[in-house]
Amino acid sequence: MSSGLDGVVAAETVMSHVDGQAGRLVLRGLPVELAAESLEFEGALALLWRGFEPLADDAASLRQALGQARARAFALVPKLLPAAAGLPPIEGLRLMLAGLGDGEEGSQPLLAVAAVPVFLAALDRQRRGLAPVAPTPGLGHAADFLAMRAGEVPEPLRAKALDAYLVTVSDHGLNASTFAARVVASTRAGVFSSIVAALCALKGPLHGGAPGPVLDMLDAIGSADRAAAWIDGELAAGRRLMGFGHRIYTVRDPRAEVLKGVVRGLDNGRIRLAEQVEAAALAALARHKPGRKLETNVEFYTALLLDAVGLPRDLFTPVFAVGRVAGWTAHVLEQEATGRLLRPQSRYVGPPVPDAA
Ligand SMILES: CC(C)(COP(=O)(O)OP(=O)(O)OC[C@H]1O[C@@H](n2cnc3c(N)ncnc32)[C@H](O)[C@@H]1OP(=O)(O)O)[C@@H](O)C(=O)NCCC(=O)NCCS
Repeated sequence: MSSGLDGVVAAETVMSHVDGQAGRLVLRGLPVELAAESLEFEGALALLWRGFEPLADDAASLRQALGQARARAFALVPKLLPAAAGLPPIEGLRLMLAGLGDGEEGSQPLLAVAAVPVFLAALDRQRRGLAPVAPTPGLGHAADFLAMRAGEVPEPLRAKALDAYLVTVSDHGLNASTFAARVVASTRAGVFSSIVAALCALKGPLHGGAPGPVLDMLDAIGSADRAAAWIDGELAAGRRLMGFGHRIYTVRDPRAEVLKGVVRGLDNGRIRLAEQVEAAALAALARHKPGRKLETNVEFYTALLLDAVGLPRDLFTPVFAVGRVAGWTAHVLEQEATGRLLRPQSRYVGPPVPDAA
């Protein structure tokens, strides 16, 4: 038995290669550094879907089809939004996505990818007492999300930074949410059911729920001279430092490096403090767990990037879903095309088993 399924290979995939020891991530043959620099979200989606979803054969038509799918998702907002009133955005998103029927016509993966930012923007406006804003034809996916949320077309630098983020997190091997999506897809329950399962897994603080608390940590520390003492206090109390450690990466998470580069090009007053806190945290973790390499993970710089783009911290985890839904849908398509029912076994350790009669 492998606790936490550590080291267990449960699927073959063409989507991404995660080399934990070398600190490398390759998205269908393209190193993440290159993907983040050269692709928009639509390009990453086309890359991941290629060979599984006919729309991905032509990147330009996929971009157009995704724009149309955002309009289709927007048409569903009046029906799905009211029930989500008052919920935190991640829970509102879960509820709205669950409202998509597995019998929906057309490309369901496309509607799933389109629906995440459309629903999220509407949820965020609802809590601010504002009416939903329709998608803008011709805008890219990242820019359109920011436009639907703010009600105005974003500065290109911000849209580009968000695009780089969405590409960077678009896929990452058999992480917990992608595995959840594949388990549900393996039962043939359908695309939307698989995506909802994935979102539920993403929500947890050990997976996609960490970046909000990273900013809380920076706020609590306040200034670099307080970092070491604050961190030691957390570790002494048995708490984990959010934004550090990873199951697979034993060296630095390559996505943290990519996002750090993007954040440096943005105007974020927190970046200096963040770098000093990072250095103090790495030193403290090395002392605290000398046997285990605990390095900066993707969530640390995600927090700074999304903050600089102007998003509030309780949108960080659902915005992760805006990017990762590319990978989820790709894995669902792959699982449906190539996989078998996922059904592992458990080892019974309960009360003694009675003799058979
Ligand atoms: C990501 C994470 C869940 C990976 O966990 P994992 O592979 O299951 O690692 P383990 O839980 O086995 O941790 C191994 C040891 O390192 C410690 N550790 C791991 N990450 C730590 C962190 N961020 N801060 C402090 N200690 C940490 C654990 O307490 C554990 O110590 P123990 O053996 O004395 O119990 C874990 O590093 C973590 O909780 N990080 C903080 C949350 C986070 O940033 N999540 C985003 C991930 S991209």
